[in-house]
Amino acid sequence: MTEVEVQLGPRSYPIYVAAGILEDLGAYARRHLTGKRVLVVSDPPVGRLYGENVRRSLRNAGFIPLWAEIAGGEEAKTLDTVRDLYDAALEGELERGDAVLALGGGVVGDVAGFVAATYMRGVAFVQVPTTLLAQVDSSVGGKVGVNHPRGKNLIGAFYQPRFVLADTATLETLPEREIRAGLAEVMKYGVIWEEAFFAWLEKEIERLLALGSEAVEHAVATSCRIKAAVVSADETEGGLRAILNFGHTVGHALEAATNYQRFVHGEAVAIGMVAEARLALRLGYLAPPGVERIAALLSRTRLPRDIPAEIAPEALLEVMHRDKKVAGGQLTFVLPEDIGRVKIVRGVPAEAVTAVVKECRAGASRASAVT
Ligand SMILES: NC(=O)c1ccc[n+]([C@@H]2O[C@H](COP(=O)([O-])OP(=O)(O)OC[C@H]3O[C@@H](n4cnc5c(N)ncnc54)[C@H](O)[C@@H]3O)[C@@H](O)[C@H]2O)c1
Ligand SMILES: [Zn+2]
Repeated sequence: MTEVEVQLGPRSYPIYVAAGILEDLGAYARRHLTGKRVLVVSDPPVGRLYGENVRRSLRNAGFIPLWAEIAGGEEAKTLDTVRDLYDAALEGELERGDAVLALGGGVVGDVAGFVAATYMRGVAFVQVPTTLLAQVDSSVGGKVGVNHPRGKNLIGAFYQPRFVLADTATLETLPEREIRAGLAEVMKYGVIWEEAFFAWLEKEIERLLALGSEAVEHAVATSCRIKAAVVSADETEGGLRAILNFGHTVGHALEAATNYQRFVHGEAVAIGMVAEARLALRLGYLAPPGVERIAALLSRTRLPRDIPAEIAPEALLEVMHRDKKVAGGQLTFVLPEDIGRVKIVRGVPAEAVTAVVKECRAGASRASAVT
């Protein structure tokens, strides 16, 4: 078992990572919670697979588990779902000293966390992430919330859990596409923070894709350690935390331009990382081998690297200009200077972005730019 500490003064908390620790959830909860009731929030697929184990483990540790399922999927990330969960909490007589526990992917974690942050002005919160994305990203750092019809994640809070329990064995039931998409975020941590981790991924990617348990534990724990380091330095996104958005400016634009239908998030981020690395190359921050290493590892992970030819560069640029990360009308990007080191660059000229978007389109010849 690997334990990663998220250092946030009085709000510090541990992340436990290992295969098979879901069985011990009740014991961990005993260590970190004082109340009697735990409202477990999940969705139907995860509930079917892991609900009974979780309830049993909590019961054996002396808790009274209450159970609430949300519909699941991004469409469920709404204030209506939040209200249903308040109803369930009141119905189950959840009190101020009790806890809300998220069992599932990022959707369940974000919604349940928002309920925990606001029900009776805040009750204890526990994250039990069951997707790779949730284990390496959404369960760490305390961002919780829901979507508004006008945009994603517009309603929310920063609210840290008491602990996170990531049972990597739960990833065995996850569709392979979701594993690969999660690995894009894992690679991102190597690029923004630690060359040695990126090099380790280059060595172990096949083992990771086959879900070798030691490799997965190391990848999840290292990702959490890196995200925790970034979040500890900047809990509420004043500065450094923005580096977590590497690959995401283009990635979000791709998701929006395709109505969130064509790509799962990590796939869009994969394409975005290649595009933003090439932007760094064009602007003179990154040397060609850096771009090559990122693109090569994505290929071996069987993630997409190209922008689909039918997406117009202008459409992507328009979304980027609308994106909330554009400060004062200027395009801001997180650009790698090397594998393991990035720089936040403001005022990137739109022409450079357009040129790179064209270069990255499927079928475009790019021999000149990289060799
Ligand atoms: N809070 C943050 O910092 C943060 C960061 C990144 C993403 N997010 C949010 O996370 C959400 C995406 O999360 P996600 O990718 O985990 O998607 P998700 O929560 O929608 O889960 C994907 C699907 O996988 C199923 N599933 C979950 N675990 C499973 C398992 N072990 N076996 C089989 N099926 C399983 C779920 O039922 C769901 O249908 C988005 O809403 C995004 O905004 C939040
Ligand atoms: Zn992401």
